[in-house]
Amino acid sequence: MTGRGQSIVLIGFMGAGKSAAGRALARKTGLPHFETDDIVSARFGLSIPEIFKTFGEEKFRDAETEAIQQFSQDIAAIIVTGGGIVLRPANVQLLRTLGMVVSLEADEETLFRRISRRAARPLLQTENPRATMVELMGIRQPLYHSAADVRLDTSDLTDDEVADAILKRIETDKTSIANRRSLRSERL
Ligand code: S3P
Repeated sequence: MTGRGQSIVLIGFMGAGKSAAGRALARKTGLPHFETDDIVSARFGLSIPEIFKTFGEEKFRDAETEAIQQFSQDIAAIIVTGGGIVLRPANVQLLRTLGMVVSLEADEETLFRRISRRAARPLLQTENPRATMVELMGIRQPLYHSAADVRLDTSDLTDDEVADAILKRIETDKTSIANRRSLRSERL
């Protein structure tokens, strides 16, 4: 199949606001809404920390890849991914066929504050979670950037504002594509 689907795919580091923005987008668009973490969790019948503890990160990553392979280019949806989805280039390739990939970002302070609210991130259960976070960010930032069609800093935005900014961007893109098309047909 060629072209790209109509889904909105949210990527970004833990604490970037993907889940909250996904819920707001689903409410505003009425599109079906999926979280890869929920799919993986349901598949094992375990929480994410339990999956990491019992089966290890690699098995979690395999299940994560299987989760995104279930999505279809023909069904528009809001797809919220886990922060590590970009670690496999094949995941990124697949996500980009599904629709517009939006990288949600935030400054280090904001990310750490948001992450600290929940102890459910197995990768950050280290002696110095902040240092671990910074290290992981350094590795992943270039991956988020190169995977993204659109990047959005959520540090000072509410969930609704994030969703509105994404929807506005999609509208702008549609208008500019329509304008380019009509310009082309005028020239013909
Ligand atoms: C992970 C992020 C988590 C979850 C798992 C691994 C990561 O999702 O998938 O703990 O590697 O960054 P969130 O980004 O929703 O926290």
